[in-house]
Amino acid sequence: MLREFLRKQDSFKLDERNIPKLFKDCCNKIYSSKKIRSYIYESVFNKPNSYQISFKNNENNFYKQRVAFLDNNLKADYFVQDIGNFEIINSIKEFYNDKEILDVCAAPGGKSILLSTYGFMVEALDKSQSQIDKFKQNIKRLNIDIKITKKDFLNSKINSKYNSILLDAPCSALGTFRRNPDVISKIDRKRLKINQDIQLKMVDKSLNLLNNGGVLVYIVCSFHSFETMGVIDKILQKHKNINIEDIQSDKMIKKENGYFINPYSFKEYGGADIFYVSVLRKQQ
Ligand SMILES: C[S@@+](CC[C@H](N)C(=O)[O-])C[C@H]1O[C@@H](n2cnc3c(N)ncnc32)[C@H](O)[C@@H]1O
Repeated sequence: MLREFLRKQDSFKLDERNIPKLFKDCCNKIYSSKKIRSYIYESVFNKPNSYQISFKNNENNFYKQRVAFLDNNLKADYFVQDIGNFEIINSIKEFYNDKEILDVCAAPGGKSILLSTYGFMVEALDKSQSQIDKFKQNIKRLNIDIKITKKDFLNSKINSKYNSILLDAPCSALGTFRRNPDVISKIDRKRLKINQDIQLKMVDKSLNLLNNGGVLVYIVCSFHSFETMGVIDKILQKHKNINIEDIQSDKMIKKENGYFINPYSFKEYGGADIFYVSVLRKQQ
């Protein structure tokens, strides 16, 4: 068998032809540029870089002076986060007028921690104890204060109202395909519909907790239309008092009601995970 493989190894070469059609269909829907799509397909077969984010600007770092590669050592005052994740939070933070934020799906804490380095006071919720444990370890190591509560957001009563809410919703994680190649072959319409139902319930509940004039940021690490534009489209049909804000970023692509990370724009850093983000403002 091994001899057979060695003789034919060129025909086993991994390239674009090996990528399932469903995955390509998702890409086609979002990225009209062939250059970007080819880059995404190429990155399926390349090991992604891991990054660490500094607490403060550091002139030795690259890309906005907060990001460094993660080799073997995680430096003190740094935490692990994908560069695309960093771009998302960096470009939406200006929409939050109120520095007190409710992060409803917060663990293991990447986005909460980044927001707190920008001076936000984060109240964090998550329903998973194991993820919360990781979050607590992170903030202990970094010596920062974030109030973390174990709570099922959909099944618990929250009495307060907020001006700033972050919903980094559970999803298929399709946008992390470089780290989790399994997601490529697991695209399943039925599962995506179930995810969308949960995402819709979460956005609905978040909007109910939002004061007039307040901002909800919806994020998923996916680029399937059901979990991204599909969710916000249904929300806008139901809630007539929501405006979608324009984000200024040369590293994202504008689509219906939101933006997708453009991994090609991170080429010189080794690419990025793909996220979708939409900034929803409740009218006064
Ligand atoms: C995409 S991850 C969040 C990642 C996190 N925001 C970060 O930046 O590190 C989604 C999280 O939602 C949590 N989750 C799922 N359903 C939930 C629910 N009903 N209530 C609260 N948290 C939930 C999961 O435990 C998971 O930690």
